[in-house]
Amino acid sequence: MNVKPNSITPKPVPEDQLLDQALRPKTFEEYIGQNRIKENLKVVIGAAKKRKEPIEHLLLHGPSGLGKTTLAYLIAKELGASIKITSGTALEKAGDVGSILTGLNDGDVLFIDEVHRLNKMVEEVIYPAMENFKLDIVIGKGNSAKTLQIDLPRFTLIAATTKISLLSAPFRSRFGANFRLDFYKDEDIEKIIGRSANLLDIKIDKPAIKIVAASSRFTPRVANRLLKRVRDYAQMKDKDYVNETLATESLKLLEIDHKGLEETDRKILLAIAEKFDGGPVGLKSIAAAISEEEGTIEDVYEPYLMQMGFLSRTPKGRIITTGGLKHLGLPTKETLL
Ligand SMILES: Nc1ncnc2c1ncn2[C@@H]1O[C@H](COP(=O)(O)OP(=O)(O)O)[C@@H](O)[C@H]1O
Ligand SMILES: [Mg+2]
Repeated sequence: MNVKPNSITPKPVPEDQLLDQALRPKTFEEYIGQNRIKENLKVVIGAAKKRKEPIEHLLLHGPSGLGKTTLAYLIAKELGASIKITSGTALEKAGDVGSILTGLNDGDVLFIDEVHRLNKMVEEVIYPAMENFKLDIVIGKGNSAKTLQIDLPRFTLIAATTKISLLSAPFRSRFGANFRLDFYKDEDIEKIIGRSANLLDIKIDKPAIKIVAASSRFTPRVANRLLKRVRDYAQMKDKDYVNETLATESLKLLEIDHKGLEETDRKILLAIAEKFDGGPVGLKSIAAAISEEEGTIEDVYEPYLMQMGFLSRTPKGRIITTGGLKHLGLPTKETLL
């Protein structure tokens, strides 16, 4: 049964599609946590509605699975605007973005996911479109080529990225506001699990919700997925509701520990501790040592290990912290003294 990596990856996997659709909050009230962002957005949206103008372009950033796409849908809904969805990987050529932009109407929201993946050619088309709502098109080739400028509708770009550091400064500066989504508090994750259990008609008691929440990496997408897994486990055991024992057993089967770490997390920490003397060590060496892709380590595992205080990034490389050593049950400086 190869379900382990999918259980904790905060990135969407195919089975999430239906789950996401069923569970995606449809109003700001249903969207749990991230209160500061919600408050700010309500002001931005309220003011724009009063002025009867589209809102400024918005940039949403933060790790996968925290609710960026959901937020983009909510903003559009709150504005009463249509939303057009695309992504940095789908927009390969200047023409791709040109045809999307010309197809928009006044007030529409254009959502570009994974915006750090846009290539330079496409960015150059987007800059003037964001700033002046103009599109430059080149007609013909060589000496006879002409540039034509056409007016675009007053759209709002909402862009999302997991890697804001890859966006150029000029691009970033073209957004009117920039919101960073944080990992969720345990209590918010518990609320999200409770809400999802209701919607999916899963019976689960409070202690079991706490167990699932503690393993959810502070991430709604992971919480929803684990909830489904513990429900499946309970059903297999012919139980009609999930209690603490069933939740604990099923997480154990998935090799997820009480802090939400799975096998690869532990391998990363163990490699730094034992093969590289605690670090500092470069990402490349860790990747080679555990046969995992650098990008996956960086995007999927490290953000959580850092959030837990088990791993640190220093200018010289990654190090395992005292907390990380303790979690693995390895000797720390304190215990060695
Ligand atoms: N604040 C929230 N409250 C309740 N559920 C949420 C919240 N944020 C995200 N979710 C759930 O997590 C899933 C993943 O969120 P999504 O917006 O796709 O994350 P991202 O785009 O940041 O990767 C959604 O389908 C939704 O069910
Ligand atoms: Mg998304």
